[in-house]
Amino acid sequence: MRYGEGLLEEIRRRTDLVALVGRRVKLVRKGRVMWGCCPFHQEKSASFKVENERRTYKCFGCGKGGDAFKWLVETEGLSFPEAVEKLAGEAGVELPKWSPDDEAREQKRKSLYDIVELAAKFYEAQLFEPGGREARDYLKGRGLDGAAAKQFRLGYAPSGNAALINHLTAQNITQEDIIAAGLARPAEENRPMRDFFFNRVMFPIADGRGRVIAFGARALEADAKPKYINTGETTLFSKGTQLYNFATARAAAIKTGTIILAEGYMDVIALVRAGFAHAVAPLGTALTEDQLHLLWSTAPEPILAFDGDAAGLKAAHRAAHLALPYLRPGYSLRFAFLPSGEDPDSYIAANGAGAMTVLLEAALPLSGLLWRAETEGKDFSTPERRAGLEHSLKEIVDRIADGKIADYYRRNFDQLVFESFKRRSAQPRADRDGARYPGRASMAGTSKPGGKFRGDFKPRPLPGTPEAVSASVQTSALVRTGQAGARHTKEMELGRLLAESPEIVLVGAESLADLDLTDPSLDRLRHELLNLAASGSSLEKAGVQAHFMRKGTADLLARFAGSTVDDPQASFQRAMADLRELSGHRSDARRLLERRKERFQRPGDGHGQ
Ligand code: GTP
Ligand code: MN
Repeated sequence: MRYGEGLLEEIRRRTDLVALVGRRVKLVRKGRVMWGCCPFHQEKSASFKVENERRTYKCFGCGKGGDAFKWLVETEGLSFPEAVEKLAGEAGVELPKWSPDDEAREQKRKSLYDIVELAAKFYEAQLFEPGGREARDYLKGRGLDGAAAKQFRLGYAPSGNAALINHLTAQNITQEDIIAAGLARPAEENRPMRDFFFNRVMFPIADGRGRVIAFGARALEADAKPKYINTGETTLFSKGTQLYNFATARAAAIKTGTIILAEGYMDVIALVRAGFAHAVAPLGTALTEDQLHLLWSTAPEPILAFDGDAAGLKAAHRAAHLALPYLRPGYSLRFAFLPSGEDPDSYIAANGAGAMTVLLEAALPLSGLLWRAETEGKDFSTPERRAGLEHSLKEIVDRIADGKIADYYRRNFDQLVFESFKRRSAQPRADRDGARYPGRASMAGTSKPGGKFRGDFKPRPLPGTPEAVSASVQTSALVRTGQAGARHTKEMELGRLLAESPEIVLVGAESLADLDLTDPSLDRLRHELLNLAASGSSLEKAGVQAHFMRKGTADLLARFAGSTVDDPQASFQRAMADLRELSGHRSDARRLLERRKERFQRPGDGHGQ
C-alpha cells in the first residue's frame, strides 16, 4: 500500500464529502443526512444519502456506496492513487513524495528483502548439512548449541565459489539482484561472479522491523584475516545506521528502561543468552551518530560496554565525544569496562550473568568517563599542566549544546579539579582518596609507567551518604537509582495514556506543559500534542495518528502504544501528580548538592576560582 491508512483517514476527515458529491448531485438536507437521486442508477425518489459525519455515501436503491476516494474513482474515472492525490491537494494534506521511480524502487526493495531472506534460510539449512559440521563444531566450541543457532538464525556459508549463487539462480533470481543484495561479487576480467561469503559462520543482521537485510560472517580459523566480513552497503543495508539485534532488543530495552551496546555479535548473543535481552552491537565500525540516536530512542541512558584496555578506553572516549552535542536533560550514556582482554562473551562464560550485572551496575556516568579520560595516566605537577587540563575540560563543556547540562558539567569539573588539587597534590585527588571517585581504579596505576586500567572497580557507594561521594557520583546515582526507575515507569505510563487517549491533553494541558520529563520521546510526544491542542485540531486518536504519520513521527506513538485503560483522565492526572512528586525529590537533592558546593567555595579557603 502506497499510503498509510492514517493518512487516508486524515484526507477523508478534511474532505467535505457533501460538497464534493454536491458538485454532481443535487442534495437536500434531512436532519444530519443529505439525500439525493442516485447518480449510479435511474430513480425518481431520492434513495441516495451522503453523511459528512460518517464520511460515506450510500444508495439504498442500487447498493453503491463508499468514501470520498471511491466517489472520485466511480464518478471521474480516476485511479485510486490519483483520487488520493486530488483530494489531498484540495484538503491541503501533504503527501509523501512518490514517483514511478519510487514505485520501481519499492518493488525492487521488496524483492531484495526476499532474496536476502532466501539467503538466510539457505545458510541456516547449510549449518545442519554434513558440510556444516566444522561450523557446528566451531559454534559448540564457543558454547552455542542448536537452540542458540536457531534463536539467532546462525548459518553456514559453504566453501566454494557459487553455492549460494546456484541456489538462488535455480529460483529464477537474476545475477544482478544477487549482486545488488550484496550476496555475490560481480565477475571481473577473467573471473566469474562468485559468492561473497564462503566457509564462514553467518550472523543475519535484521533491520528495526526484524527483516534480514545483511550478514556478518566469521571465519572458522582462529587466525583468519579478516576475522569478520560484513555485507557491503546495499539499498537495504547501510552499516552505520543499523545495530545488531536491534529489532529484538528494542522491546526489551523499552521494558527495562536501558539498553546495552557491546562490541561484537558474539557478545550480543552471549548477553542475550545470559538474560540481557536488551543487548545490541554496531556492525564492525565505531558507534555512529545514527546508532547513538537509535539507542536513545529506546532508553535514556544506554550502557556502552568496552574492553578495559587502552583501545576500549579510546573507543569509549570517542563515543563520549560523539554524544556531547546531543545531550539533553535525562539523556546520557554510561560506560561499563570489562577487565582488560575480556569482552562480554568471555566475561559471562568465565564469571556468569551475576558478575556481568554487577559490572553493568557499576557503569561510569558520562561525566565520570570524560574526567577519567582526561586525567588517567597524566601528571599534573605543574601549573601549566593543570591549566591544560582545565582547558581540555572547557573544550568538552563547549561541545555540549544544552545550556543547562553544559553548566552542570562545568560546575562538576570545577569541583573535581578543585578537590583534586586543593591539597597541592601532583595528581588528581582520586589517586589518594579512592572513595571519592569510581574511576579511581584507573588512576591508581598512574605511577607505574605503562600501567593500564584493569577494570577492578569497587562497587559504587550507596547514594545518600553525601560526605563519602563526589558530586558527580551523587548526581549520577540520583539519575540511576530507584527514582530513575520509578520515573521511567511513570513516564512510560503517561506516554501510553497520551498515545491511546490523546484527548486527555485537553483536561490538563497546563500541568502537562509544566511537567519535568526525562524521556526525550515522551517530551516530543507532549510537545506535538500540545501544539495540536493549541491549534484547535481534533485530538481524536485516528486524527492524531494521521497527523504523526504525515509528520513522519509515527514512531513516537508506536513507542508508547499500549492497552487502553478504563478511566484515562483519572490515570492521567494521577501519573502527572506522581511525576511532579518525583521531580520534587530531584530538586531537593539538587539543592543539597548546591549547598555542599557553596561550602566548598567559601571565600578564603585558599582556592582560587
Ligand atoms: P570473536 O573473536 O568471534 O569473539 O569476535 P568478537 O566479536 O569478540 O571480536 P572483536 O571484539 O575482535 O570485534 C568486534 C566486532 O568488530 C565484531 O563482532 C565484528 O563486527 C567486528 N570485526 C572484528 N574483526 C573484524 C574484521 O576483521 N573485519 C571487520 N570488517 N569487522 C571486524
Ligand atoms: Mn569475542
